[in-house]
Amino acid sequence: MERLLDNGFQPKHVDRKALYVNFEERIKYLHDFLEFGIADVEALVTGAKYVKALIPTVVTLVYEKLLQRDITSRAFHTRSTAKEKPEDEDWLTEDTPQIQRRKVFLRWYLNRLCQDPTKMEFWRYIGKVGMMHSGQLRMDPLSVEYIHIGACIGYIQDIMIEAIMSHQQLSLRRKIALLRALTKVLWIQNDMFARWHVKDGDEFADEISLMSMDDQEGQDKEKRMFGSNDSSVSQEEDKSSLRSANSTLHSSKSRTDPTGVCPFANLGKASSTQTKIWAN
Ligand code: HEM
Repeated sequence: MERLLDNGFQPKHVDRKALYVNFEERIKYLHDFLEFGIADVEALVTGAKYVKALIPTVVTLVYEKLLQRDITSRAFHTRSTAKEKPEDEDWLTEDTPQIQRRKVFLRWYLNRLCQDPTKMEFWRYIGKVGMMHSGQLRMDPLSVEYIHIGACIGYIQDIMIEAIMSHQQLSLRRKIALLRALTKVLWIQNDMFARWHVKDGDEFADEISLMSMDDQEGQDKEKRMFGSNDSSVSQEEDKSSLRSANSTLHSSKSRTDPTGVCPFANLGKASSTQTKIWAN
């Protein structure tokens, strides 16, 4: 420590309270720590079609898994993994219309992961999915205990690693870049779930606004940062947001201008081909 001080080293300051009471600050901290940058954005945008192709498989496997165990299956009856389901009730199967409808939610979610991650709206959606499983909603709360959530994210990650690594056409360089980016997104998603289950930061509970993911101020800021505040979610717009992310990525201005459109321009110093592990 002394040696560091002698060198004039100053660690970056992180406002602890802001991590709990300010959604955007929490996201920024996670991006910064995980070094989520332009290389990841590029990998996600260019890899979106491969991830989309995996969606039906992921959805089938995840529901198969969740319905195989009573504790997770019952959540689809009772909206809680902690409530016992009456024994004489029929267990749900993948063909039940109820589960078919729920599969649509997961498909929808995975499609959203293929949208433009340079928009704060992308992260707000991830935040909302986390919050809504934690029993925070006043109307019809959904309480899924964290153990099942963490396992489920791990399972999705495992499917993606296997599928992407065994892809026939993608180069190893692109596989690595895409998996690194997806893993970072999944770990941020994990934090968005975990934050409602761990007790850290409880002393700020009164100041944690459940609406911080929706707040107008945040959306206005986003508008200023990204130049758009479109919340619609149609397939056509999925495509156009990917196109716009692509053009943002490929505009030399956004990569070099620190005050320019893309806030990730200065974050990703390494290219998607570089890996810090095997660099030497
Ligand atoms: C990777 C982890 C998970 C993700 C990303 C995820 C995602 C979602 C999404 C996007 C929705 C729909 C939200 C909406 O109404 O717009 C949802 C609803 C739901 N999820 Fe999850 N989920 C995860 C884990 C789990 C687990 C482990 C369980 C059960 C043990 C579960 C049970 C439910 C239930 C019961 C609903 C409500 C369905 C309804 O309202 O009909 N989820 N989830």
